Amino acid sequence: MAKKKPARAKSKAASRKVVKLASRKPAPKLKAKAAVKPKTTGNRVPKPSSKPFGKDGKALDGIRILDFTHVQSGPTCTQLLAWLGADVIKIERPGVGDITRGQLQDVPNVDSLYFTMLNHNKRSITLDSKSKQGMKVLERLVKNCDALVENFAPGALDRMGLTWERIHAWNPRMVVASVKGFGPGPYEECKVYENVAQCAGGSASTTGFRDGPPLVTGAQIGDSGTGLHLALGIVCALFQRNRTGRGQRVLTAMQDGVLNLCRVKLRDQQRLAHGPLNEYSQYGENIPFGEAVPRAGNDSGGGQPGWILKCKGWETDPDAYIYFITQAPVWEKICELIGKPEWKTDPDYAKPPARLPRLKHIFNTIEQWTMTKTKFEVMELCNAVDIPVGPILSMKELAEEPSLRATGTIVEVDHPTRGKYLSVGNPIKLSDSITEVTRSPLLGEHTNEILSKVLKFTPAEIAEIKASGATGEAPKAKMAAE
Ligand code: COA
Repeated sequence: MAKKKPARAKSKAASRKVVKLASRKPAPKLKAKAAVKPKTTGNRVPKPSSKPFGKDGKALDGIRILDFTHVQSGPTCTQLLAWLGADVIKIERPGVGDITRGQLQDVPNVDSLYFTMLNHNKRSITLDSKSKQGMKVLERLVKNCDALVENFAPGALDRMGLTWERIHAWNPRMVVASVKGFGPGPYEECKVYENVAQCAGGSASTTGFRDGPPLVTGAQIGDSGTGLHLALGIVCALFQRNRTGRGQRVLTAMQDGVLNLCRVKLRDQQRLAHGPLNEYSQYGENIPFGEAVPRAGNDSGGGQPGWILKCKGWETDPDAYIYFITQAPVWEKICELIGKPEWKTDPDYAKPPARLPRLKHIFNTIEQWTMTKTKFEVMELCNAVDIPVGPILSMKELAEEPSLRATGTIVEVDHPTRGKYLSVGNPIKLSDSITEVTRSPLLGEHTNEILSKVLKFTPAEIAEIKASGATGEAPKAKMAAE
């Protein structure tokens, strides 16, 4: 209460000052005040909505994306934008479409899960971008979209005639976003797939066991990871456009995206110059370090030692394992839990530096305990006393996990030709922009709708475009309905 008084006094004084000034020269002073530029974006946003959270549209409502992506990296990006509310129009080659429609097919002649799980919430138009009529449609699309997203091989967009200069001249507000394998440099012309990026970005050289070959990881950090980086770049470019009024180019190279995710390994590379990496188990095993960061098996990447340990049933279940972290603050609880209370005071074990050369023995001892319990029992017992552990969950267990269904992280989607299938929903949860996951489009399903309703071509113009073959044959969905 006492603090509020001076504030009120100040505001009274301030209003008196305004009145005084206004009585002298009202018009010019008011004008000068209005001309003051807002210092934060907070001053430019409208009044808070009175609608309940989740009932006032989506984060990217009003943003339209010309989606020229294929395979995985680009589609991951545009799918995220679609989940966040953007209207995503996917351009596909007539008769063929995104190559993944036909890759790894589990059901003959039905869009593969590879495609359906990466292209939710989008519309599809078939268009031969190399034809005259196709380019006419593309020009109209560029003029009616906010961002063009592509992940063609280097130079492909330019070869189509869609140079940045041309796009920018057609629509100066257009953001042009690209995934490429490498940034400018010796490899920029190379075509790149997931594992190429994992290898070139430092992931493979640091993954696996020290005495084995480099390993790629199942997490698609090259493709999906880069798509995620690109989505952030696009949203930021759109945000900057609010101020500058113009679009810009956004480039995410897969090598850069992977390296960004391997940041801690570049950290370790520099630490190597100052001595061995003592949290790596090879330090405890007295194996000298070389010039580059070695593969560290299942060592933890941070300052708290960890390892994967067998649990009950490991002899037959390949996933009966748990990641166990010997976090320093809970060391005494670990000693109690595994039946080694004497380690709490033993100078060889009591303090973290003393434990580092003995990590192998310590984890072997903890494993004797974890092998008597299932991974879920270990999880329960450890979490009860704040010991961080991670059960090795199989894809089957994740697919069946009720809590992931409840949050929409795993969703069941219905598809007209495939039927019901499981997908990963939007992992980014916004409290005021709720994601509804809808099925991927059939090839060219929305060609007519986009030509007429979005691009406003007249029936005669649409007939001309179609007669030229620029959109290919009649869309499959329509044919099935007729
Ligand atoms: N109409 C007409 N032509 C079309 C078209 C359309 N709607 N859509 C694509 N094309 C053409 C392209 O213009 C290109 O023609 P060009 O080679 O004559 O210039 C051609 O189809 C093939 O495109 P491209 O990107 O080279 O496909 P690809 O199958 O040979 O290569 C990748 C695939 C993924 C290796 C390559 O696109 C790439 O390196 N992309 C960048 C990195 C990336 O995203 N990699 C990860 C993919 S998950």
